[in-house]
Amino acid sequence: MTLTIRPRRLRRTDTLRQMVRETTLDTADLIAPLFIVEGRDIEKPIGSMPGQAQLSVDRLDREIDSMRELGIPAVLLFGIPAHKDAQGSGAWDEAGPVPQAIAAIKRRAPDTVIVADVCLCEYTDHGHCGVLAGPGQGDVLNDPTLELLARASLAYAKAGADIIAPSAMMDGQVAAIRAGLDAAGYSDTPILAYAAKFASAFYGPFREAAESTPQFGDRRTYQMDPANGREALHEVALDVAQGADMLMVKPAGAYLDIIRAVRERYTLPLAAYQVSGEYAMIKAAAANGWIDERRAVLESLTAIKRAGADMIITYYAKQAAAWLR
Ligand code: PBG
Repeated sequence: MTLTIRPRRLRRTDTLRQMVRETTLDTADLIAPLFIVEGRDIEKPIGSMPGQAQLSVDRLDREIDSMRELGIPAVLLFGIPAHKDAQGSGAWDEAGPVPQAIAAIKRRAPDTVIVADVCLCEYTDHGHCGVLAGPGQGDVLNDPTLELLARASLAYAKAGADIIAPSAMMDGQVAAIRAGLDAAGYSDTPILAYAAKFASAFYGPFREAAESTPQFGDRRTYQMDPANGREALHEVALDVAQGADMLMVKPAGAYLDIIRAVRERYTLPLAAYQVSGEYAMIKAAAANGWIDERRAVLESLTAIKRAGADMIITYYAKQAAAWLR
């Protein structure tokens, strides 16, 4: 046998494999989502997301301390208000859970980067990401929602958010938020655009976590069709033109081709969101003894990075950081 080319030569030892490794995962790449619930002394586990809990602001310190200790640089905040209404007015309440959490985290850990998710679905009684034409009327109105998203963004910027991340998938939301922030003197606050966000079954557990299940219909008139890759690039182009500072593809695992395509065509920093369903699937398989949790998580995160993401939003941030050191 005269095989001259043998790729196995470079796989013989751990050190050799390390030398030729193309992608490395780093704790500095990770962003940890947090669910902030209105009220006091609340730490309510989320059934469909083992290891995750809704936290009230007064219970945040320990969580923030442990993230800092692990070297996680950033958190992504979602709010769960005590009261919801048709407009989602809790989203721009300056005394709401997210602005309060921002202030508390800034006091405790001034260097932690705070990303504020901006959407109405956690705050509307109907659970949609924008306002409706009338009670129970399915059409989500685009342009009237823009002003509300801008208002919510301003409330979070004022509270001290480092990055504003609009996830409602309304057309023109980046431009509307940019204009609102600039007019109020927040021209230095960057926008991380959920540029290509797909209408995904993998958001199921999140809706329990954020209490944001639509009361009727679904999100397919505003979130993207999972079948569309070219349209994702169109969405990204629009957000770049509207002034996005950073881009996001969501979900991550089933959309690695989109991450790669965006990476190849755009120079802006790119985040990918390993969403609730991706987390829940690994957790469930691991709980059954069907999968090695640590290896599966590190492999999935490495694959997202290999596809081209600079940053990864993941509910596994803390566990992955612990495994990485
Ligand atoms: C809000 C929002 C959602 C997620 C992030 N922001 C839910 C949705 O669009 O239905 C999902 C995140 C996850 O599943 O982890 N619009």
